[in-house]
Amino acid sequence: MDVKMDLAAGSLTALQVMQDAAVIPVIVLTDVAHAVPLARALVAGGIRMLEVTLRTPQALACIEAIARDVPEAVVGAGTARSAADVQACAMAGARFIVSPGYTHAVGGACRDAHLPLLPGVATASEIMAAQEDGFTELKFFPALQAGGLAMLKAWSGPFGDVKFCPTGGITAANAAEFLALPNVVCVGGSWLVPADALARGDWSRVTELARQASELPR
Ligand code: 3PG
Repeated sequence: MDVKMDLAAGSLTALQVMQDAAVIPVIVLTDVAHAVPLARALVAGGIRMLEVTLRTPQALACIEAIARDVPEAVVGAGTARSAADVQACAMAGARFIVSPGYTHAVGGACRDAHLPLLPGVATASEIMAAQEDGFTELKFFPALQAGGLAMLKAWSGPFGDVKFCPTGGITAANAAEFLALPNVVCVGGSWLVPADALARGDWSRVTELARQASELPR
C-alpha cells in the first residue's frame, strides 16, 4: 500500500480511481452498521476505491459513515442517475461517481461538484456522447451482456483513446481476461461483497476476496 498514491489530499481524476486497484467493488448496503467494518475489510485486502450504490435507502448514510470513519478508503457512489443524485452524493462525502449510463445532466453535475465520473456506456453512440462532454474513462455496462471481450476489442480501433472499466457479469473467474485487454484499466464487480458474508458479518471472507482481487495481474 505504501507505494500507492496518497489519497488524502486533493481531488482525484477518473483515471486515478480506475488505476488504484484491479477491481472496484460494487457494494449494496441495507444496514448502515455494515458500512464501516465492510470498508475496513476491503481496505485490509488492498482495495481502497469503494463504490456504494444508490440502490437502497441506506446508501447515502453508508457513504457518509465510510467517508467519516475510514480515511484509508476512498468512497464513491454508484448508480447515480440524475444531477440530484450527484449532489446528494457530494453532500454525503462521495469522492467519485459511477453512473449506469451517461447523460449531459449527470456529467455537468459532476463537473460542478468537482467529482470524477465514470459514466456507463454500452454503444458507440454513448461513448461519443460522453467523449463530447470530455469523459474518456468509461464504465462498460453491462459488460458481459453487452458484448464482453469482443466488444472491447472492437472498440479499441475507433476509440483507441478511451479506457474502460467493464462491469456487469465480471467474476473472479473471468476478471483476468478483461484486465489483459489494453483498453481495460480495472473491472467492477459485486463478487467481493457477497450478500451472505455481509449478513453474517464475515469480514475476513471479504478481506480474502479483496486480497485475491487486488493481486489480479493487469
Ligand atoms: C453494477 O451495478 O455495476 C453491476 O450490477 C455489478 O454487476 P455484477 O453484480 O454482475 O458484478
